[in-house]
Amino acid sequence: MTVDTSVTLAGIPLKNPIMTASGTSGHGLELAPFFELSILGAFVTKGVSIAPRAGNAPPRLQETPAGLLNAIGLENPGVPAFCAQALPGLSALGIPIIVNCFGEDPEKTVAAVEALSREPAVTALELNVSCPNVKAGGIAFGTDPAVLRPLVEACRRVCPKPLLVKLSPNVTSIVAMAAAALEGGADGLTCVNTLLGCDVDVRRRRFLPGPGRGGLSGPATLPVALLKVAEVHRAFPKTPIIGVGGIRRGEDVLKFLLAGATAVQVGTAILIEPTAPVRILREFIELCEELNIQRPAEVVGTATVG
Ligand SMILES: Cc1cc2nc3c(=O)[nH]c(=O)nc-3n(C[C@H](O)[C@H](O)[C@H](O)COP(=O)(O)O)c2cc1C
Repeated sequence: MTVDTSVTLAGIPLKNPIMTASGTSGHGLELAPFFELSILGAFVTKGVSIAPRAGNAPPRLQETPAGLLNAIGLENPGVPAFCAQALPGLSALGIPIIVNCFGEDPEKTVAAVEALSREPAVTALELNVSCPNVKAGGIAFGTDPAVLRPLVEACRRVCPKPLLVKLSPNVTSIVAMAAAALEGGADGLTCVNTLLGCDVDVRRRRFLPGPGRGGLSGPATLPVALLKVAEVHRAFPKTPIIGVGGIRRGEDVLKFLLAGATAVQVGTAILIEPTAPVRILREFIELCEELNIQRPAEVVGTATVG
């Protein structure tokens, strides 16, 4: 049986549902020496802001059982340098390029979205709303529907391309955040960003990573991410969802599709095994063959309770 892995996400045709997750595969072609990047459904860049950012001082990464805490601090070269240095190489891959972006306040967020939307090589934007809003005491945009909705609305006005909003799991109701993003005009949702957590170095009596907390990713987070996808899909069955969190095997991809995601992103697994997307895609196809799933796009959201 030949498996047709193609899916359409917010109007973007993808040859398969597997993408990189923002921040785990660089801004450009750091992964290119490891595998043919054009096999991916899409490439998602590390987050970019209008001005460059140096990020946090080390330690920025801390391993946990089955996970990773990161506090990179959104280091990036800024939109102009990103467009000049990374975009030409990404565009040459011939696959959809989704640029993850953010701002430290609403004006800077809109400026980044507007500038990136003008670039022909950018297929779609993924808005990271887990960034602290410096004008609101550092509380992330994506934790208050009353803040999130106008932010997405303002970005929508300057963005003629597909606009995806990447939701934070660190909220009481992800469905309320999804509603705010959709009311603001988002075309699709990425579920989810990292879960806040920390570790402690008992010898130095210091919290880790450096800022005292970080975002947890990796296999430990998969059940949480899967539930968030299912909750958002149940509330908004027609909304395109990208599932992300802990994916490391082909079977994980199918779990996210069945829970309601149209596509998925692979993050921490790439840090451990840079060629992971190649293996995950192969395993996904083999599993679809075994389970007689000819068109995986047709099984999206078909998992049931009981
Ligand atoms: C080192 C690192 C850097 C990240 N940087 C970003 C980023 O810039 N923007 C963003 O939206 N998410 C960022 N993320 C979150 C990932 O895109 C993803 O949502 C998360 O890691 C969960 O997926 P995973 O378990 O497959 O890694 C980062 C994650 C890691 C581990």
